[in-house]
Amino acid sequence: MRVTSEEQRLRLRVTALVWEAEGVLSAHLRRSDGGDLPPWTPGAHLDLHLPGGPVRQYSLSGSPADRTTWRVSVLRESASRGGSRAVHESLRPGDVVDVTGPRNTFALVDSPESEYLFIAGGIGITPIMPMIEEVATSGARWSLLYGGRSRSSMAFLPDLARYGDRVTVRPQDEYGLLDLDAFLGPPRQNASVYSCGPEQLLAAVEQRCVAWPPGTLHLERFAAHPTPTAAEEEAFELVLRRTGRSFTVKPGSTILEVLEENGIEPPNSCREGICGTCETKVVEGIPDHRDSLLTQEERDENDTMMICVGRARCRRLVLDL
Ligand code: FES
Repeated sequence: MRVTSEEQRLRLRVTALVWEAEGVLSAHLRRSDGGDLPPWTPGAHLDLHLPGGPVRQYSLSGSPADRTTWRVSVLRESASRGGSRAVHESLRPGDVVDVTGPRNTFALVDSPESEYLFIAGGIGITPIMPMIEEVATSGARWSLLYGGRSRSSMAFLPDLARYGDRVTVRPQDEYGLLDLDAFLGPPRQNASVYSCGPEQLLAAVEQRCVAWPPGTLHLERFAAHPTPTAAEEEAFELVLRRTGRSFTVKPGSTILEVLEENGIEPPNSCREGICGTCETKVVEGIPDHRDSLLTQEERDENDTMMICVGRARCRRLVLDL
């Protein structure tokens, strides 16, 4: 399972709201008593239970060394489904918000020999910031290619300036699209590529990394992959190992929906296959993975799945529930 610290729900106070760039607002969260927060690792995100009801996932963009403050940085999106609007318009210093996590689905693989290549697009810089702090502290070889619409829209440029020429800043209105080929170079062993940003960028990075050794590429997606329609799906039997209960999952339904209809409520949050909250062990059968989290190697192992989107590629799927 990919939870790196025990998941818990906390009530935290917004102690500051800080503009990081055009349209990017950071919320600083602390315990009301100023005490220590749970530890977390670079790449982790929180579930923020926002005013008005939406629950959204945001990467922690601050430093894991700061045990008293968590920072999340949120882009104001014109096509907001309520999350970024709630942060930008409703959240105020002094407010108390419920937070679940931290949870890490984009963890840094610790590999002393590795060269770390980071590629960030726009607000995708948020999980990369603590990663850079960690690799810079450890003395590892690393570099960052950071793109954005324009310099004024790119968060954390002053913080990144201290890393000198390890960081290449490429606003699109000055340089055009990121030159991924020049940054990545030829496929090689002992390199780890971490990328977060808009889908177009991630697809381009994925395509460039096809010829690299398996396990090189690590992506964090903001939005789910498109899924097949109900007409392309077949019903299957779902069996819960711990209770022996079984259900039919019809075309068009998710495993999570079927469980909820039957009074079972597994942990879940995004319901889109992007946060990892609903990750469940597979005991028997072959999952039809539809999440945007597992790597190809993890999918091929078939021992875990995201039940909010995944289905089965077989008639009978047994889960550790
Ligand atoms: S609830 Fe987020 S991955 Fe399933």
